[in-house]
Amino acid sequence: MKILITGCSGMLGYDLCRTLSEHELHGVDIKDSSLFSSLSSLSCLDITDSEKTYKTITKINPEIVIHTAAWTDVDGAETNQGDAYRLNAIGTKNIALACQRFDTSMIYISTDYVFDGEKKEPYVEFDKTNPQSIYGKSKYFGESIVQQLLNRFFIIRTSWLYGKNGKNFVKTILNLAKEKEELKIVNDQFGSPTYTKDLAEAIRTLLTAYCSLSTGLYGIYHITNSGSCSWYEFAKEIVKQSKVQGPRPEGAPAPLSLKRGERLAQPNWAANCKVIPVTTEEFKRPAKRPKNSVLENLTWKISGFKLLRNWDKALADYLEEI
Ligand SMILES: NC(=O)c1ccc[n+]([C@@H]2O[C@H](COP(=O)([O-])OP(=O)(O)OC[C@H]3O[C@@H](n4cnc5c(N)ncnc54)[C@H](OP(=O)(O)O)[C@@H]3O)[C@@H](O)[C@H]2O)c1
Repeated sequence: MKILITGCSGMLGYDLCRTLSEHELHGVDIKDSSLFSSLSSLSCLDITDSEKTYKTITKINPEIVIHTAAWTDVDGAETNQGDAYRLNAIGTKNIALACQRFDTSMIYISTDYVFDGEKKEPYVEFDKTNPQSIYGKSKYFGESIVQQLLNRFFIIRTSWLYGKNGKNFVKTILNLAKEKEELKIVNDQFGSPTYTKDLAEAIRTLLTAYCSLSTGLYGIYHITNSGSCSWYEFAKEIVKQSKVQGPRPEGAPAPLSLKRGERLAQPNWAANCKVIPVTTEEFKRPAKRPKNSVLENLTWKISGFKLLRNWDKALADYLEEI
């Protein structure tokens, strides 16, 4: 199948390019990237430019577009509202209009932040949306535009992404654990950390089913790794599972040198990095985040697909990968 991936140099885009390599893949991104030799074409494109977006999609003429490009700086969106809406809403409209013109199917990647987080149980695809941040609102506008313009669409809401090719919470915690003896992490926001490699694999499964069934499958899907935790519990698990070394605790002996340049194995000092639970109130951020953003993968399950593995198992594989 001929597939166009927007944001192909981003975190999810990167894993999609690796995972879907049996297809004819075309990538677009705002920045040039020579990450992939497997791509049939790579174009530098700003999707907020409607004319160029239309021309690029016309030229490639894909069977399906997987739209991952987005403004993803959640706090930054609060002070850059125009930019966030331009990319997440108008950019998405540009892609959807081109898909409409050529009757191309579209997969739009959306977010748990379309919900307000007040529900006590996990959110299902049919729950009422009520985004609280500019990022959440701009992504929700993207969803609405896709639904208004297209019949042949998939909206995939996912959460708390981490992957090899991008800044994410896991990398931040690993870096901080190297420098600090304690980390204060929010313990009253809950979600499902999701490995981009697992999400890309799920999209591959969906595409395979789509190829054989063609219709029937369109709609909104929640796709995340299974299980849930707070950011605090996630951070504790990262520190526990990682082999990264933290600062040498007071009184601990300096690492011994054996021969020149060679060092004796050191203890895992990161394991001593203390993770301290704090409340959202104590850790103020510019953007309001949902307290509960756990997504039940209901449509995925009732469509007969296997739920993704538990988040802590996926984390172990990710730490191995990086
Ligand atoms: N990250 C999360 O935790 C999370 C959670 C839920 C849902 N999502 C959604 O999942 C999708 C993928 O997220 P991600 O974390 O993989 O995003 P990402 O790493 O930020 O990747 C997005 C890519 O799009 C590029 N881009 C930015 N502006 C563009 C433009 N005007 N035209 C074309 N390309 C542009 C970015 O380039 P630059 O790097 O140069 O900006 C980047 O390469 C997004 O739609 C996001 O909203 C993410």
